[in-house]
Amino acid sequence: MKITKAIIPVAGLGTRFLPVTKSQPKEMLPIVDKPAVQYIVEEAVASGIKQIFLITSSTKRSIEDYFDYNFELEYRLKKAKKLKALQSIRRLSNLAEFIFIRQKEPTGNGDAILRAYEFVKNEPCAVMFADDIIDSRIPCLAQLIKVFEKYQDSVIAVKRIKKSEIKHFGSVKVVPLEKRVYQIKDIIEKPSPGKAPSNLGVVGRYIMTPDLLEALLKFKPKKGKEKGITDGLNAVLKKHPVYACEFEGDWYTIGSKEGFLQANIIFGLKDKEIKKNLKSFLKKHVY
Ligand code: UTP
Repeated sequence: MKITKAIIPVAGLGTRFLPVTKSQPKEMLPIVDKPAVQYIVEEAVASGIKQIFLITSSTKRSIEDYFDYNFELEYRLKKAKKLKALQSIRRLSNLAEFIFIRQKEPTGNGDAILRAYEFVKNEPCAVMFADDIIDSRIPCLAQLIKVFEKYQDSVIAVKRIKKSEIKHFGSVKVVPLEKRVYQIKDIIEKPSPGKAPSNLGVVGRYIMTPDLLEALLKFKPKKGKEKGITDGLNAVLKKHPVYACEFEGDWYTIGSKEGFLQANIIFGLKDKEIKKNLKSFLKKHVY
């Protein structure tokens, strides 16, 4: 079955990047001249996705507006003959079919995914977190889809992480199957030092089969705890295989100051207009 639907939850609070995320969605923070969420949408489209479910909240209206027409701006750009700018904003709303669903409370990324339940319950679909930006020759999601097409069960993206950093991510216990593909035996969220089963960390890209969605639906978090996609995955992998794909490419987690700045430098150094000046600026101030 072809994967044509993706869920992108963007309703989180972004507490790791306060104060900037107080009134500005972290998914709209710019990487050079595009918001983070646009990179995710473009990766989805380049991987064959046609329908995108953005799970938003009352404080994330700017994301809904970003992928909609802006009649006044388009009218004024046309009048001023700023056609390049006009084209760059017009194409956004036509990248895919966008469906916006509200998550009323930030009760976890797993709960956010379930807001799209009725639309994806009978077919495998992609889940992408908008704070993980991946720079790769083959889109990361396309790499996961390839693994799914072979194994026909849920797949998650993983990357090798420094030992000292793994405590901030999910760590997977795995059995290797082939080059860059593993079967997952356990996932430990934010392991305490020395408790990580491997240095393979979970990155926010998933192929979710219907059994994972059902497991998420059934999962009851402890009082005061959020419902995360990992809760569903850990329930499913006791019954079905779940696979990990160690994707090729560079990963930036822009939900933190460091990752956000790194992504801006790397993408800035690839930007035709600014790369020369940015390089000499870095040479002067950093090297
Ligand atoms: P995170 O798990 O990083 O949570 O979300 P967060 O709340 O955004 O960030 P911190 O930890 O407080 O800094 C992964 C993705 O899931 C979305 C987020 O917007 C992010 O894109 N999410 C998270 C939701 O849509 N709803 C939630 O309740 C939680």
